[in-house]
Amino acid sequence: MSLDPATAESLLAFWAEAGVDAMLLDKPIDRIAAGKIAPPAPVARKAPVAAPAPSALRAAPQPDVSAAIAQAQALAAAADSLEALAAAIAGFDGCALKFEGASQAVVYRGEATAPLMIIGEGPGADEDRQGQPFVGRAGQLLDKMLAAAGLTGRVLITNTVFWRPPGNRTPTPPEQAVCAPFVERAIALTQPKMLLLVGGASAKAMLKKDEGILSMRGRWHEWRSADGAMELPALPTLHPAFLLRQPAAKKRAWADLLTLTERLDRPDRPAG
Ligand code: URA
Repeated sequence: MSLDPATAESLLAFWAEAGVDAMLLDKPIDRIAAGKIAPPAPVARKAPVAAPAPSALRAAPQPDVSAAIAQAQALAAAADSLEALAAAIAGFDGCALKFEGASQAVVYRGEATAPLMIIGEGPGADEDRQGQPFVGRAGQLLDKMLAAAGLTGRVLITNTVFWRPPGNRTPTPPEQAVCAPFVERAIALTQPKMLLLVGGASAKAMLKKDEGILSMRGRWHEWRSADGAMELPALPTLHPAFLLRQPAAKKRAWADLLTLTERLDRPDRPAG
């Protein structure tokens, strides 16, 4: 099959966004027959293993991240600007993702006093290369949607984690928990009026709910900081990477943005 350069470039960009960063051949090469690799040693036959009792089928133990969270809280509290926060995050070693192939910390882009804060899931390959959130194909779609909704220049964009999860997998709850004090501090420094939570992994982590994005999206939820001192209205919506794969879902994301702008642009009622 031969592809014209524009189609090939678009296909490569799609694969890169999806986390495909290795090339394989169409037909497998038998490297054992070619003598490059020793055949595997025969495995001794074992007696059949009985199925585990239901009580043994528990979730895998999660790593203890309490020390890393305490350190993140102290660093975040000491940051008195978004720039200082970004520097503190870049120097923080408590998130395992930093050591799993990420090339740099990706913290935020946008307006430091934006009325709307957008929180995505985690950086992808393009974000990892460029050091800014939502700059790949999904980010370009997000920007177009924000422009159409009149939100250009009125947002600060960040993620639940600051390092690219390998292969663009979803960040785990412990990885998100370790980064959460920094996300909270970004909210405290920016003082937005509301949050747009982009994608299921963001909505679940920020709202501490175990619901699917399709049932959470388009409805207002209340976000609360860990100490309960801050509260903000938060709207979950579909991730633009999902919209690129399922264009028919764009109308639901657009409806969500209209719900959001209606509240954002509603004049504040005088107290009393
Ligand atoms: N997807 C996200 O959730 N965040 C990014 O920054 C990029 C893609």
